[in-house]
Amino acid sequence: MSSSKARFMCQSCGTVFSKWVGQCDVCKEWNSVIEEMPGSPELVDAKVMSENFFTTLSANTEQFVATRHKTSLSEFNRVLGGGLVDGSVILLGGAPGIGKSTLLLQTVADIETLNDFVYISAEESVGQVLIRAQRLSIVNPRLKIASSANLTQILNALKDIKPNSIVIIDSIQTVFSDAIQSPPGSISQVRYCTLELVNFAKSHNVIIIIVGHVTKDGTIAGPKTLEHMVDCVLSFEGDRTCDYRILRGDKNRYGAIDEIGVFSMTGDGLKEVANPSAAFLSDRTSKVSGVAVFSGIEGTRPILSEIQALVSKTGLQIPRRATIGFDVNRLSMIVAVLSKRCRLQFSDKDVYINVAGGLRINEPSADLAVASAIISSTFNTPLPANSVFFGEIGLSGEVRQSYLAFSRLKESEKLGYNHAYASISDIPIEIDMNVTRIKYVRDLLAVIKTTS
Ligand code: TYD
Ligand code: MG
Repeated sequence: MSSSKARFMCQSCGTVFSKWVGQCDVCKEWNSVIEEMPGSPELVDAKVMSENFFTTLSANTEQFVATRHKTSLSEFNRVLGGGLVDGSVILLGGAPGIGKSTLLLQTVADIETLNDFVYISAEESVGQVLIRAQRLSIVNPRLKIASSANLTQILNALKDIKPNSIVIIDSIQTVFSDAIQSPPGSISQVRYCTLELVNFAKSHNVIIIIVGHVTKDGTIAGPKTLEHMVDCVLSFEGDRTCDYRILRGDKNRYGAIDEIGVFSMTGDGLKEVANPSAAFLSDRTSKVSGVAVFSGIEGTRPILSEIQALVSKTGLQIPRRATIGFDVNRLSMIVAVLSKRCRLQFSDKDVYINVAGGLRINEPSADLAVASAIISSTFNTPLPANSVFFGEIGLSGEVRQSYLAFSRLKESEKLGYNHAYASISDIPIEIDMNVTRIKYVRDLLAVIKTTS
């Protein structure tokens, strides 16, 4: 069978076709099917030393236990679960210009426990990387910088690398291997190059961080299988127009996911934000309607954020429901519950939700804050000052208790809030705050009435 037979593959979902088509049948994407030439897979050496193949728990396992290398950015360590693990491969995704290259250049340069530091840019010239390094005031004579997009050339240059080193590949979409005849960035290339890099990391015990571009829907460009091949998948998010950047763990074989690291982009690089709650609330203006403060949990720590709602008369036949930083389907559900259980009329109104500071909230406990902001905007009445809201709203209008309620209250108290609206049955005595129990969503109407 000829191995050089061309095939056509959808660059969006990976479906293979025998002939070219304009639209992929599976994912319905237009112009995503391109011709790819499968490369001949290299024969794997199947000879295995039988006595070394298995390890038992009684054997000396210490040599297998990887150490963690801490970077000077503790927010980065937090997302990694304590630091970089030897021999691990990390995929860092993010929109263009968000600061991926900056973050990696800054972090690799300051780890002291590693042997070699290699930064390979497949997008920029050495000069461009050096300008950035100067701007970031990086002084690490051990940092080696190279510009290359050819995988064979890169792996050759790295063959004598010491164990316990770090290699950055920026980015995987521009790297290519001669073994595959498709263009750089195609699914076959990205998958093949990633697999080669993973094998290299494991066999040489080096850490490899791969930068990946994201598509317009926020997933890393290339097949989903890429995420299965690597040990950690991190995403770097934020609004380019505001200074805050959030690093999120989407997959981590060596730590918890859902931890976030918060940074701010300054004139000389990324700085970690020690108190994210204060940062996301810094521009808060009281006495404005449609604004509620949500006491949420990101990973293991509480973070306060501001939820803004705007309810306005629609000019369209079907009113708009639009969100930034919050799930739009969840908003539709909250609006439906409010109209049914609180007898509010939204069929002729647009509802917009925005989470300030570029934060993205996935927690159902944000429901109560979203509902409060919507009611506040509807009646054009500000919510009580110095108050926080949290609780998950069910379809019947009941508000459920949130987990880690104590941490949420503690963080709110620390930041000067003195009133919480939540579904809490027993209020911890250590908390010096007023807590109003919201058992049903209609109880929120009373909160607004007492303010006005
Ligand atoms: P970059 O790391 O090149 O982004 P990515 O690799 O994700 O495409 O960062 C680009 C942006 O960061 C650019 O708009 C300028 C800004 N920036 C700063 O504000 N301060 C700095 O010190 C640096 C290096 C970049
Ligand atoms: Mg870059």
